Amino acid sequence: MTDTGLSSSLTLPCGVVLKNRCAKSAMSDSLGDGRGNPTDGQVALYSRWAYGGAGLLIVGEVHGDPQYLEKPGNLVMRSDSDHRRFRELAAAGRENNAHLWLQLGHAGALAYPPCGRPVGPSALDLPELSCDAMTLPEIANLPGFFAETARLARELGFGGVQLHAAHGFLLSQFLSPRFNLRGDAYGGGVANRVRLLVEVIEQVRAAVGPDFPVAIKLNSSDGIEGGLGAEDALQMLRILDQTSVDLIEISGGSYFPGAQKQLAQRRSGPYFTEFTLDARNCTEKPLMVTGGFKTREQAELALESGAADIVGMARALVLNPELPQDWMEGKAVQPEFPVFSEAPEGGVTAWYTMKLAEYAGCGPRVDTILARQALELYDQRDQDRVRLWNERFL
Ligand SMILES: Cc1cc2nc3c(=O)[nH]c(=O)nc-3n(C[C@H](O)[C@H](O)[C@H](O)COP(=O)(O)O)c2cc1C
Repeated sequence: MTDTGLSSSLTLPCGVVLKNRCAKSAMSDSLGDGRGNPTDGQVALYSRWAYGGAGLLIVGEVHGDPQYLEKPGNLVMRSDSDHRRFRELAAAGRENNAHLWLQLGHAGALAYPPCGRPVGPSALDLPELSCDAMTLPEIANLPGFFAETARLARELGFGGVQLHAAHGFLLSQFLSPRFNLRGDAYGGGVANRVRLLVEVIEQVRAAVGPDFPVAIKLNSSDGIEGGLGAEDALQMLRILDQTSVDLIEISGGSYFPGAQKQLAQRRSGPYFTEFTLDARNCTEKPLMVTGGFKTREQAELALESGAADIVGMARALVLNPELPQDWMEGKAVQPEFPVFSEAPEGGVTAWYTMKLAEYAGCGPRVDTILARQALELYDQRDQDRVRLWNERFL
């Protein structure tokens, strides 16, 4: 094995050691069974990623409360879930000495309307999106909810949790001055907007104990007019530095209508390494940077320059699940990113998601299909699962 820096281990503040500096970032793989439980195909895919060499794998959008789902292919982990299935998934992700963490999500205003209840820090009534404002008692209940899901994650064999505070979902909505217009202790200045996230971290930590990884994913900027900007994000990092988080993943962009289309518009990468170099002055926490990594040289440079302690990749590890192993063996492999002309909104993400379905043995070969066709397949599958979800959870 060639030591490229990528293959060196990392000890997190909680004492857990990750075997290398490559992570598969969270992806909402939409491979749940429609009732919130893992499927065989999903277990097989995580086993493949574990042998693919990344030290850290993160499952996207796992929910404690099915009302606030992102999509009906999400996992729901609570006391009445199929724990045997979750244990199988956890075991697959531990293979090859990898770490499998769950990203704990709450879609907030972006909760999937056919099955969910959109809520946010403040009420919204936009043509494309509307939601109710959360009450103070609802906010007070949230940290305990995340904490219980995290406790269960540990009990079922997962290696850590990540709190999703990026991309425009609930915790990210609270951070954003565009979506958080509250006049109480949870809205206004930076310290107030980050308060809920800090409370969630504290209660999650109390539930899982001192030796279990608790991470967060944070936007460097929302890419929305009036949204979270870099200055505020850096100030939030100073506050988060005082918490017990083990790893801060930096990302950016939002799924809110009108947000910059990070994946579609930013063709070259990496996107956020300049921000993470600034972030170093605000926090001593280990940093993971995700977004736009395509080559081994880019990943090595991010580590060598100090921009990151871990490099996260999503699309590259869809295109080549064995990429970290190849890189660490010194192979000159580079994923071939497809170019999508005229992709409709959501089409590119749908294409990558359907590629995961292909690997999991529950979708057609997608290499020759257009983003538009992938979106049709993806939407159709979600529509088919609405009934299952509502039968199970309503
Ligand atoms: C199919 C797909 C699903 C994604 N789902 C999630 C998710 O559930 N949670 C999350 O934090 N990010 C999600 N992302 C964003 C990625 O984690 C990552 O931040 C983004 O794709 C940029 O990294 P990349 O350039 O390596 O793809 C998703 C990305 C893709 C392509």
